Amino acid sequence: MSATPQIPASPTIDRLPVSIPQLHEKRVLGEPIVMVTAYDYPSAQVAEAAGVDMVLVGDSAAMTVLGHPTTVPVTTDELLFLCAAVRRGLKTPFLVGDLPFGSYEASDEEAIRTAQRFVKEAGCDAVKLEGGGTSVDRARAIVRAGIPVMGHVGLTPQTATALGGYRAQGRTARRAVEVASDALALQEAGCFSIVFEAIPAPVAEAIMERMEVPVIGIGAGASTDGQVLVFHDLLGLYDGHSPRFAKRYADLKGPMVAAVREYAEEVRTGRFPAPEHAYSIDPDELGRFREQLA
Ligand code: KIV
Repeated sequence: MSATPQIPASPTIDRLPVSIPQLHEKRVLGEPIVMVTAYDYPSAQVAEAAGVDMVLVGDSAAMTVLGHPTTVPVTTDELLFLCAAVRRGLKTPFLVGDLPFGSYEASDEEAIRTAQRFVKEAGCDAVKLEGGGTSVDRARAIVRAGIPVMGHVGLTPQTATALGGYRAQGRTARRAVEVASDALALQEAGCFSIVFEAIPAPVAEAIMERMEVPVIGIGAGASTDGQVLVFHDLLGLYDGHSPRFAKRYADLKGPMVAAVREYAEEVRTGRFPAPEHAYSIDPDELGRFREQLA
């Protein structure tokens, strides 16, 4: 491993850390808010250098980083470990940690205790939870405990089975009303921001007329106040199913495999390491060493 990280200097080096009032100001001014997921120190450094506004350590880590087929299995301890690494790689973006499935639903007390761990042990600025219904009560409780909460409506992957699978939500009037009610209830509960995932663009646009907090969309069209994408989808690092909204801006897995393959080839053919990759020793010292070894 090289001693010095090779990530280019950040264009955002002089920016102050992004705050909730700044996010609200962006919403009011109509300046799009940029959010991306990150799961470790290097991906956080990439997000920092790219100048994004918000970083989410999503429970999508279960799939992108830990190799599970869904987001459900990831644990609080696993996400805290990733959040803490991301925190060390960030200076400017607002950091949100995802509360994993099974860590907040049972009671307000459980929700507050888990949220406190994300702030206290991993340095998150806020937490995110999924769904309406009892999640609205949990969001309200966490907000009252002094921790900012981001809501998440529409396709909520933690409960995708109950929603009929990974599919767009709000494609019937009845379901669209439910999504709108969840969003408004979370807003009323004090969420500082809400994610809209996989909702028809016209439905999102109609709900936006009632929203007073920054809404970050993913597969919800262009009317939301900002957008979020999963790091591994955006960079072409994830081989699993990619939804239609996951625009790929690069295909980095190919060059990564090619580089590791070249390394393997060079080791096998004796071309690596070359003399320039080795340390030298004064010939006298080497002579003495050899004598002592003999
Ligand atoms: O876990 C995640 O990455 C998310 C985003 C898709 C919003 O919840």
